[in-house]
Amino acid sequence: MTVMIRGGTVVNADRAFRADVLCEGDKIVAVGENLELPANATVIDAGGQYVMPGGIDTHTHMQLPFMGTVTADDFFTGTAAGLAGGTTTIMDFVIPNPQQSLLEAYHTWRGWAEKAAGDYTFHVAVTWWDESVHRDMGTLVQQHGVNSFKHFMAYKNAIMANDETLVKSFRRALELGAIPTVHAENGELVFQLQRELVAKGITGPQAHPLSRPPEVEAEAANRAITIAGVLGTPVYIVHVSCAEALEAITRARAHGQRVYGEALAGHLVIDDSVYRSEDLEYARAHVMSPPFRSHHHQEALWHGLQGGNLQTTATDHCTFCAEQKAAGKDDFTKIPNGCGGVEERMAVVWDAGVNTGRLTPSEFVRVTSTNAAQIFNMYPRKGLIAAGADADIVVWDPQASRTISAKTQFSKGGFNVFEGRTVRGVPTHTVAAGKVVFDKGQLRAEQGAGRHIDRPAFATVTR
Ligand code: URP
Ligand code: ZN
Ligand code: ZN
Ligand code: ZN
Repeated sequence: MTVMIRGGTVVNADRAFRADVLCEGDKIVAVGENLELPANATVIDAGGQYVMPGGIDTHTHMQLPFMGTVTADDFFTGTAAGLAGGTTTIMDFVIPNPQQSLLEAYHTWRGWAEKAAGDYTFHVAVTWWDESVHRDMGTLVQQHGVNSFKHFMAYKNAIMANDETLVKSFRRALELGAIPTVHAENGELVFQLQRELVAKGITGPQAHPLSRPPEVEAEAANRAITIAGVLGTPVYIVHVSCAEALEAITRARAHGQRVYGEALAGHLVIDDSVYRSEDLEYARAHVMSPPFRSHHHQEALWHGLQGGNLQTTATDHCTFCAEQKAAGKDDFTKIPNGCGGVEERMAVVWDAGVNTGRLTPSEFVRVTSTNAAQIFNMYPRKGLIAAGADADIVVWDPQASRTISAKTQFSKGGFNVFEGRTVRGVPTHTVAAGKVVFDKGQLRAEQGAGRHIDRPAFATVTR
């Protein structure tokens, strides 16, 4: 297929310029002014629009078995929803059960992902430790295109990694040229606070944020950063939600440590009042970890993105329907944790980031695509509009508006945390691997068209 995107303004992380973009097969083959139109080309008129690298969502959970159930979106519906919102690559998580082989889990997730409509790649969680984990990490990096490992510091009695696992896995990642990532919350503190709240009879969803105050996140962020600092490994902190965790990242970076942080679209614009709603189904629908926080923390996250101490935006897309969330109607600790957003992230970050003057269009590209591609070693295949890069492109109308609603979303789960929000700046077209998969509201996602993206190890230096 040949696609010509004509007359738009190409926005890359480094600059914006007027150019046509020609895609041939799954690659961009030319970027320049007044390109000659091949006879067989499909033409997208991008006049008055921005032409940007397709979004990379660094944090999703499609078809995840979690807290006794499985997320509503699978790899097809979840990646299709992403394409409708301009996200062309997701980074999902292989999460082995404690004692389960990492390789076995990896192949299970690879099987589930075969139906994906958009490109995908995996972080692999290290939830326990022994020699086989050490060995499997090597196999994953050297033979399976994995270069990032995830550590849950929360979810005690389930997938929580203890300090021994963190230290040994971080050290192994360094040896292999892979990057460790962490969900930073002190799982023991969460567990004890949950027990105390339940013992006092505070069992509704309003207790969820009380069991996970910012200090719980800050302690774990500081611990992970300290471990990484001692071992000399980089570390990437997922879903940074509070000022205190951001301060830990900022301080470490100021001291020369290679620490990265991810902000979720939801954490940037939704506050903790959702948990105090009298509509308990509504409150439960917002239960995710870390929880939504006050305006003060939202402002801090924006400053983190603006100042470069947070580098990526993601969603932690992890959808459960009302019936699934109702498993915790008598005990908030049993509400499956997770919210959606893969379809809305780009528009929400544009509207709240670019329209407010917090981010320039190039900075938007940086935090929605390019930085992710660079941190996780997919650049310049991903994250850039240039000849030779993958033809993953979103054509963006900065003037068009839409009001977000679960009624019109492609994503499953029947709920939208951004419900009723009107965003100005929306995708008109998404091109993924050279195919027009979203065209003015028409989604043409194709089951199985997504590809696994191998991410090679980073160059290692022996000291
Ligand atoms: O609540 C959340 N975030 N659910 C998904 C799992 C995780 O912690 O990322
Ligand atoms: Zn294998
Ligand atoms: Zn998490
Ligand atoms: Zn997650």
